[in-house]
Amino acid sequence: MLTVRAPATSANLGSGFDVFGAALTHPADVVRVERADETTIEVTGAGESFVPTDPAKNTAGVVASELDAPARIRIDKGVRPSSGLGSSAASAAGAAVALNELYDRGHSREELVRIAAEGEAVVSGDAHADNVAPAILGGFTVVTDDGVTSVDAHIPVVACLPETVVSTRDAREVVPDSMAMDDVVETVGNAATLVAGMCRGDPELVGRAATDPVVTPARSELVEGYDAVAEAAGEAGATGVTVSGAGPGVLAVCRDWASRRAVAAAMVGAFEESGVDARAYRTEIGPGAEIFDS
Ligand code: HSE
Repeated sequence: MLTVRAPATSANLGSGFDVFGAALTHPADVVRVERADETTIEVTGAGESFVPTDPAKNTAGVVASELDAPARIRIDKGVRPSSGLGSSAASAAGAAVALNELYDRGHSREELVRIAAEGEAVVSGDAHADNVAPAILGGFTVVTDDGVTSVDAHIPVVACLPETVVSTRDAREVVPDSMAMDDVVETVGNAATLVAGMCRGDPELVGRAATDPVVTPARSELVEGYDAVAEAAGEAGATGVTVSGAGPGVLAVCRDWASRRAVAAAMVGAFEESGVDARAYRTEIGPGAEIFDS
């Protein structure tokens, strides 16, 4: 038997829609695998009733099929489904890393990103690697049609998760099909600044650049209480706030490690004042899926 811890991830980071992603040290899924004649899936933990156990419909099951690695797969969900924190990607990444090791397939981490993205494609209908890439490689990742680049960044963040659901389909429908050149220029400037901030480990630059004039404003409309939460986070020490992935999770980049406590409390308080229960994870950009018991 082999156990892998696969982290939550935050895609987009404001200025990198469908391109940027970051691994968070927690929450995380724990994926246990053991060899079997055919693949079975058991799910426990956060939102377990919303996760399919049919191997053909579960990202981890699809990964097992892609790797020709039948297994009994037990997933303890720490990452709630439909949270904007890469829940299905965490399971896909955990299964890919675990089964590659269990069956000694010898794939590189970059190859496992492609295989885990197939799992995402079968389940969600769209092969976004912007969550599986950081879940496997860790740190901050840039995904393009030509491949994946990763940076070993360490930035303090708070991921605040309201008890509401935003469907990825709705979140994609509100994104405009085109954008004005002024908005392109602003987005490119922010994206470049964010990359520089990640490379320097500078939360001020990362936070300032974790926004854009088109996607974030459109999507924030779908997150009840977003404006109040963003304002409260900024007053408590966040350098920038954005919608995490497709939402409803909200990600705040924090000035330093110590400010996370105040930022987390301010965000939960602002959600509650908007009538929405929420919980906050004081976390940071950290490693990808790790084998911790074999
Ligand atoms: N980049 C994707 C989106 C991530 O924001 O829609 C969620 O699949």
